[in-house]
Amino acid sequence: MSTERLRGYVASELARGRARSAVLTESVDEADLVRQHSPLMSPLVWDLAHIGSQEELWLVRDVGGRKPLRPEIDGLYDAFQHSRASRVDLPLLTPAEAKVYVAEVREKALDALEHSRLRGRRLEENAFAFGMIVQHEQQHDETMLSTHQLREGPSVLHAEPLPHSVAAPVPAEVLVPAGEFDMGTSTEPWALDNERPAHRVATADYVIDAAPVTNGQYAEFIAAGGYHEPRWWSEQGWRHRVDANLVAPRFWLRQAGQWWRRRFGVLEPTRSDEPVVHVCYHEAAAYAAWAGRRLPTEAEWEKAARWDPATGRTRRYPWGDEAPTPEHANLGQRHLGPAPVGAYPKGASPLGVHQLIGDVWEWTSSGFHPYPGFQMFPYPEYSEVFFGGDYRMLRGGSFGSDAGVVRATFRNWDHPIRRQIFSGFRCARDATASEAHSGGVA
Ligand code: AVJ
Ligand code: FE
Repeated sequence: MSTERLRGYVASELARGRARSAVLTESVDEADLVRQHSPLMSPLVWDLAHIGSQEELWLVRDVGGRKPLRPEIDGLYDAFQHSRASRVDLPLLTPAEAKVYVAEVREKALDALEHSRLRGRRLEENAFAFGMIVQHEQQHDETMLSTHQLREGPSVLHAEPLPHSVAAPVPAEVLVPAGEFDMGTSTEPWALDNERPAHRVATADYVIDAAPVTNGQYAEFIAAGGYHEPRWWSEQGWRHRVDANLVAPRFWLRQAGQWWRRRFGVLEPTRSDEPVVHVCYHEAAAYAAWAGRRLPTEAEWEKAARWDPATGRTRRYPWGDEAPTPEHANLGQRHLGPAPVGAYPKGASPLGVHQLIGDVWEWTSSGFHPYPGFQMFPYPEYSEVFFGGDYRMLRGGSFGSDAGVVRATFRNWDHPIRRQIFSGFRCARDATASEAHSGGVA
């Protein structure tokens, strides 16, 4: 891409993110912007000003070389200084002030975009700092979407209805043959530090579900008493199951012999063919154990998503190298929920694994560790400080993740008890000797 085209692309990506932030912050009133909808989340007005604050730090001060606009507010919007639960008590910018602030920052960021050569310095090479800030805003937009889900009261968000026509049946599971593949990336210009570098990883033969676990399947686990059988849960998982009194996915409720769910202010029966969402890692792992299976590792997830057996090459996305379109995946808050299994046949991987990108974040069994050769860039608080912590990796993005964020290399992480995020899962298992030998699943 020429430098001038890159400049135009960055400007349009910045504008796209800001339009989404506007939808999320202008659809509720002032009281809802400053309210603490859940101790798990920041007030929406904090996310908005924090988006501006990060943009100021990297694009206005660093790339643009300008003096701070409002140095006195830096600390308020530093995620490491104040827990989410405590942010509501800080002397935050009011909604009106926050809107003025982010607009002022944006004007100066666009000025920095005009003046940067977009190469030379590593931070500016291929507009990396701009790409990082574009993704940061979209990540907080997904966080704000979770806050909307936790918000009480009638629906305020609007979106296209979910696609419900299923083109072709999806097989239950797929064999992924043993061998090495290239995991991670060294070439994706806007990949974040934890996705780098590309490196060879070997897997044994394994079998992975061709689709995420559905509400219908998950309801069978509940009906079989899965929440009351410690043997399906890890020790830590069972303790949490009891302490938090988990009995079903978050936002589910039992009424008239049926499971219902509250989604963005609307109460409706769960659909059995949609991926289950709002389960924590412990629930996902318990379901897998009950089903005689396990969660995939991060490497297994990525090999199923990217490896092309015909060429041995690792693709950018399951369907190939081209950026996601609405035909490939359910992303970007286009729909307000995960789509039924089979809704995205064009998004399947070469091995026939569906809906890896979009719909629901998928829990894996892996903790957060750096890839061999990892180099922190440009700041330790994005990834490095979280390595080795009490986290499990999530892959593939959700219906609330933007296409500009969820490369198939993108790595997300959260505490194993979290379920206000748009999290689901698929299962895997070791292949049997005869499956491995015959190269398929009977
Ligand atoms: C990568 C989604 C775990 O939201 O905590 C936002 C992204 N980092 N601001 C998060 C992030 C700094 C991060 N996750
Ligand atoms: Fe942030």
